[in-house]
Amino acid sequence: MRRAMILLLACAQLLVCAACAEKKDGKTDKDADATPVRRIGVAIYDYQDSFMALYGDEIVSYFGSLSNESVRYEITVVDSRFDQMVQKKAVEGFIAQGVDAIILNLVTPSSAESIIDRVVSAKIPLVLINREPVGTGEGYPGIVNNPLVCYVGADARQSGTFQGEIIRDLPNHGDVNGDGKVGYLMIEGDVENTDAQYRTQYSVKALTDAGIAVEELDSGIGDWKRERGQEIAAIALARYGDAIEVVFSNNDSMALGAAVSIAGAERTVGKDIYLVGVDALEECVSMVREGTMTGTVRNDYVGQSHKAVDVAIAAMSGEAIENYYWVDYVKITNE
Ligand code: BGC
Repeated sequence: MRRAMILLLACAQLLVCAACAEKKDGKTDKDADATPVRRIGVAIYDYQDSFMALYGDEIVSYFGSLSNESVRYEITVVDSRFDQMVQKKAVEGFIAQGVDAIILNLVTPSSAESIIDRVVSAKIPLVLINREPVGTGEGYPGIVNNPLVCYVGADARQSGTFQGEIIRDLPNHGDVNGDGKVGYLMIEGDVENTDAQYRTQYSVKALTDAGIAVEELDSGIGDWKRERGQEIAAIALARYGDAIEVVFSNNDSMALGAAVSIAGAERTVGKDIYLVGVDALEECVSMVREGTMTGTVRNDYVGQSHKAVDVAIAAMSGEAIENYYWVDYVKITNE
């Protein structure tokens, strides 16, 4: 039986992974050596990010599962450690090594143009994932004008809308104290990120579109991190107390932190406060099931990573690819 074998060598800044097929009985090393190899460079913006770590690992394991006697995929994964310079060097390294494709999770989407230019000049297919560079017109110029460049992601407006709808559909529509408006805290991801901007905007829009009055009592930039979510929620709950009826968190990691502060403030989710996140991290899905989180939204890293890999393989094989590929979010509640 064929089985993916993942070799993980970690050194200072670089994670090097080779995904290759195990030899079948009777095959020799020489046979394995004869298998054509495709090399792919993957740069993740920050492997400390719980969601992106799952996403990066899934890219490696899916490539591994696709390796066979006719092609072997060798994957180099770089943790850019939230540092655009580290990522720039990694991409230059991939180009110098002559990789067959690059899958890139940008640290700063505003630097997309120069990085895309370099990869395009080297004629290497480039699949951008998760941190979408947004242009002013119909699509980002570096993506729509280059047939070897594409973006694979999920439309963050949908995730924000789903968060708002989860609150809208509660019997009291989030108005715990019955004063006719929903007082909320918004915990945001990083400022540059479209996912953060859209989730912030569309979660609230789903309420106002339904005619529900809202009041933003506090907000804070949590950079997608659990500890920051906890701090922001602790400060807001101390300052505004029971007036905070809903905590919107742009992702689950920060929601997990907020949950700690909610408990610390002796508030009870589902009874006197509501908490929603995005990603559907396993821990959060369990919390939703048991009622300690009101809801989350599945950010389908399996679907997105497989799509990114499939598209990279198509582009490496000379097939035409589209500019954008979208994977749907899914609402998760305990109903
Ligand atoms: C995820 C966050 C993650 C961010 C990284 C978002 O789509 O929901 O959990 O931190 O991407 O860019």
